[in-house]
Amino acid sequence: DLLKDIEGLSGKEEMIQKYLNIKKVIIVPGDCDEDPSVLGEMGRAAASYCKTIMYDNISIALTGGNSIKAVVDNFDIYTKYKDILVLPARGGIGKKVEIQSNTLAAELSNKLNGNYKLLYAPDNMSGIALETMLKEKSICETIEKIRETDILVYGIGRADEMAKRRELEAETIEQLHNLGAVGEAFGIYFNKNGSTVYCTPTIGIQGEDLEKIEHLIAIAGGKQKSEAIISVERGRKKSVLVIDQGCANEIMNII
Ligand code: F6P
Repeated sequence: DLLKDIEGLSGKEEMIQKYLNIKKVIIVPGDCDEDPSVLGEMGRAAASYCKTIMYDNISIALTGGNSIKAVVDNFDIYTKYKDILVLPARGGIGKKVEIQSNTLAAELSNKLNGNYKLLYAPDNMSGIALETMLKEKSICETIEKIRETDILVYGIGRADEMAKRRELEAETIEQLHNLGAVGEAFGIYFNKNGSTVYCTPTIGIQGEDLEKIEHLIAIAGGKQKSEAIISVERGRKKSVLVIDQGCANEIMNII
């Protein structure tokens, strides 16, 4: 039965990979909505994949969130490669320091015996403040490194949930709704067809950088995220997507 299950999973991995037109799909057994330990297993799967693509001097940028925390928590100490640079993909969000990209980048870098750089700036910054920050040399250097990262590991959220987490104004929330935003990743909101409909003003990774990044690793689970995942991942050819079985089943229902 277990074998059948696993065979079933690899069939689904291939179907979802082809449907989304991405590089690879990894489905972890279970449902993280029902069993929180499944998110840990997803983190472990993403960490294992990440190890297979690492080399000396590589740079890894991380977004924030609980899913990326699961990757970092389940990365074991791994010092095979030298001079690894770990970066936050974007500024911080909200009040919870445990799931901010800065915190997670520092933690992962310790496990890899690497280096890290932090972005001391809130995400969702507005025009003038943003311009002023960008005049700071050390910030510019960090941003440059982030935008040229070799690996980007990112979470995916539902547009409505993320708008809440980011405490966006009612007006912006309505705008996102009217634009048909269903999914969000790295500060960019996507509609059902996978088109960008809104970008959070931010320092860090920008939409145009994604094309140049060699390796993308997305991690997201739970049935309620299936539409969001499709919106973010559709046609993202370099992306390796780690999801749970619950979410995979839901995606199979949609496609
Ligand atoms: O806020 C950072 C972020 O990575 C978002 O871009 C993404 O939508 C969200 O976190 C995912 O969070 P979680 O893994 O907690 O669902």
